[in-house]
Amino acid sequence: MNFLSLIEAKREGKPLTREEIQAFVTAFTAGQVPDYQMAALLMAIFFRGLTTAETAALTLAMRDSGEVLTFPADPRPLVDKHSTGGIGDKVSLPLAPLLACLGFRVPMISGRGLGITGGTLDKLDSIPGFQTALPVPKIIAQVQNVGCVICGQTATMVPADKKMYALRDASGTVPSIPLIVASILSKKLAENLEALILDVKYGAAAFMPTKAEAQKLAAAMVALGNECGTNTRAILTDMNTPLGRAAGNWLEVKESVECLEGQGPTDLQQLVIECAANLLVQTKKATTPALARRLAADCLASGQPRQKWDEMILAQGADLATFNQKLALDSTAAAVAELTADRAGYVSQCDARLMGEVIRDLGGGRLAQDAKIDYDVGVDRIAKPGERVEKAATLCRVHAADAAQADAAVERLAAAFHLSTGRPAA
Ligand code: URA
Repeated sequence: MNFLSLIEAKREGKPLTREEIQAFVTAFTAGQVPDYQMAALLMAIFFRGLTTAETAALTLAMRDSGEVLTFPADPRPLVDKHSTGGIGDKVSLPLAPLLACLGFRVPMISGRGLGITGGTLDKLDSIPGFQTALPVPKIIAQVQNVGCVICGQTATMVPADKKMYALRDASGTVPSIPLIVASILSKKLAENLEALILDVKYGAAAFMPTKAEAQKLAAAMVALGNECGTNTRAILTDMNTPLGRAAGNWLEVKESVECLEGQGPTDLQQLVIECAANLLVQTKKATTPALARRLAADCLASGQPRQKWDEMILAQGADLATFNQKLALDSTAAAVAELTADRAGYVSQCDARLMGEVIRDLGGGRLAQDAKIDYDVGVDRIAKPGERVEKAATLCRVHAADAAQADAAVERLAAAFHLSTGRPAA
């Protein structure tokens, strides 16, 4: 095939056929298309866009560039959730065992964080002994036996996305809706799901800054997921404020366990229930959203998902005794410092972006793909918008590698909180 003519066609805004897209992806994955030609095509797509049919062809070609998980026949539907990422977004951790207890199978293939956004795998790496790199037969066996797994993408799954994402990152072509949609959905479709719920975030710390942009991305992903045969829905959630009261890898695992024990913060618990409820409706396990929410909330409150969590982490190599000892500690970091309110008032803003930047700079996130992470640093006891605080009350606590870094972080975080005299609108 003449790849130059395909680049020229897209440059002129002409649609490519399914066969042309397939040929390009297959050849690129096999190393038969040079990076400069693929980068040129990506830039042409960035400016010219893709039709729904082209995006579907790209998504399926990327999915089929590697291994697609195949599971034995089983009455339990295969489901998953994808979040576009945010500060304190730990929903996957309590959600996977909850879904397993609701009678689903959950092959949750997750990613690592880059920049200010946390990654599920990094959070799980803070659990002593936990293994996120699993071979495909082990992923399938655990899904069948335990009901859920949370692990990384294997080298054999969706290799086209790995190569294309690296090029997009280096060629300024990441923020293209059809390329984002194809990248995200190719990985989810490789899990062979019956239903998928997407949590698309908008706001200061989100990939999509405005609700309108998030809605556009959500609509594109929902249309394509359904077109490719997976029942797909999306919810839009706010990412101006961190989710929950803790952000930072280990602190988020701790808060997830609290959520599974019925002690979790309300916003986290609501979002976990909302994701589960949507999947119950999507798979016709519940007839109405109200019934689905009740089923999910009752299951979460039953304590079974907490036991399922232990079963899941044990199956993935966790040292449960050490994990439980770690959970009992107030902090695993060397230094803890508190940010307190300089006056009484209502919290009207808690800036998720600034908080994400502070945590990343404490060592909790990555500036480069291979950077090492400090799992113990982060922020907890976050006061949330709408809450009343008295003078000297805690606005948040910083966990850091030493006292100087903890104090510097507290100083920076003072700008993240705004206090108002009147109660802010919800
Ligand atoms: N996450 C992905 O996996 N791919 C994108 O293109 C953007 C976000």
